[in-house]
Amino acid sequence: MSKPSLTAVVMAAGKSTRMKSRLPKPLHPLCGKPLLSYVLDACLQAGCSRLIVVVGHEAERVQEMFHGQCEFVLQEQQLGTGHAVMVTQPALQNYQGDLLVLPGDTPLIDGHTLQTLVEHHQRTNAVATLLSAVLPHDAGMYGRVLRDSFGNVLGIVEAKDASPEQLAVREINTSIYCFKAPALFDALQRLRPDNAQGEYYLTDVIGLFTQEGRKVEAVVADDWQVTLGVNTRVELADVASRLRWRIMERLMLSGVTIVDPASTYIDADVQVGQDTTIYPNTYLLGSTVIGEECQIGPMARIENSQLGDRVTVLASQVVESTLDDDVRVGPFANLRPGTVVGKRSKIGDFVEVKNAVIEEDVSMAHLTYVGDANVGAGTNIGAGTITCNYDGNRKHRTVIGKGCFIGSHATLIAPVEIGDGAYVAAASPVNQNVPPDSLAIARCRQEVKEGWAKRRREQSSSEG
Ligand code: UD1
Ligand code: MG
Repeated sequence: MSKPSLTAVVMAAGKSTRMKSRLPKPLHPLCGKPLLSYVLDACLQAGCSRLIVVVGHEAERVQEMFHGQCEFVLQEQQLGTGHAVMVTQPALQNYQGDLLVLPGDTPLIDGHTLQTLVEHHQRTNAVATLLSAVLPHDAGMYGRVLRDSFGNVLGIVEAKDASPEQLAVREINTSIYCFKAPALFDALQRLRPDNAQGEYYLTDVIGLFTQEGRKVEAVVADDWQVTLGVNTRVELADVASRLRWRIMERLMLSGVTIVDPASTYIDADVQVGQDTTIYPNTYLLGSTVIGEECQIGPMARIENSQLGDRVTVLASQVVESTLDDDVRVGPFANLRPGTVVGKRSKIGDFVEVKNAVIEEDVSMAHLTYVGDANVGAGTNIGAGTITCNYDGNRKHRTVIGKGCFIGSHATLIAPVEIGDGAYVAAASPVNQNVPPDSLAIARCRQEVKEGWAKRRREQSSSEG
């Protein structure tokens, strides 16, 4: 038998007043992705075939970011969570199935927890099933789940409306529910905003159902952490640290050594191969993919980059770059977007590379800037070499062939080409192409004045 269809309604229209931010809460970054994306991923993992996101505050920005990933319903005025679901009714007019309703601000929720909720709901044939959690600490501003002496759910009371006895309840409402859709929309019409915040509370639907004697169930989350909501930046930081731990736990269990998880920051989508070691104070960001047996850090920052196997990156930054197997980077290198480095090449200290293809077995070990350039296989770039790529108006390319030797402190004034196997003498400014296998030398001949220094010393001591 195929599974009944499941639709999710994600409430993400609120003003997020407590974030005190110009950026709408669903778009706040969390381990490299916007907050809301985690909730949508969990819904997909739980088998939802339709995702409806309620947008309102800064709706256009949210819609732009999630374009093509879900449907949107506009809640023009944010009159509360009950109202947020109410406005989805036209989009769900003929829908008779179950509705998973959840807030856009619980990013640690996972597909497994949602599935458990839905399965319980369907097995018990309840009209509504809520996901609750028992926190190990004070429940703060969460809504409290009220039960009778037999343990049956009676309703939910918001912290702002609760009595001191109700506030002492440790079981909280996670704001994640499964409803029979027709019954939900029927109950929503009966909501009244007679509470401390003057809002239509979705939570009141639970009380309405129990008063009518309809079956309401609650599933207590196995792990309370997955239900944490983000309402302030303090909660955002707390959730981020838990999420980071989860990400690193997964990597460590798959064979990655992370020397100090407390000082390591790895985004959700980063992939790291087996037997790679990540040293402290390291950031692996965005869509970065790292191969096997690499040594990363200490103090590396790698963003949206691809690294092969056995790559070393020590105390360096690598952004939107591709490093092939056995490449060594750092310490103190800066690889900017568009850098491609071939097998076994070495990019050493105080080297900056941008928009450049460096082939295999190249060495640029110290104090160099290579921008808008190609460097052929086996070439050696001496310390202090600079590609002058910018003429004040435009950028130009420097093309260095295979097996070249560029002496220290060469100044390569683009556009310029150095042929395969050519030499450039140290300290030469080069602005004309150098044919293959030749030597370019462009500097004044050295003059030596023998005895000059001695004579100068004797002259100044006789004057003194
Ligand atoms: C809500 C619950 C509370 C629960 C907590 C769990 C209510 C009344 N309270 O409180 O019981 O313990 O979540 O995290 O439901 N939203 C809209 N439109 C609105 C108002 C809110 O879309 O008009 C969205 C928000 O953007 C947010 C979600 O609904 O994503 C929840 O709203 P929020 O203000 O964060 O509610 P809480 O105070 O956290
Ligand atoms: Mg909230």
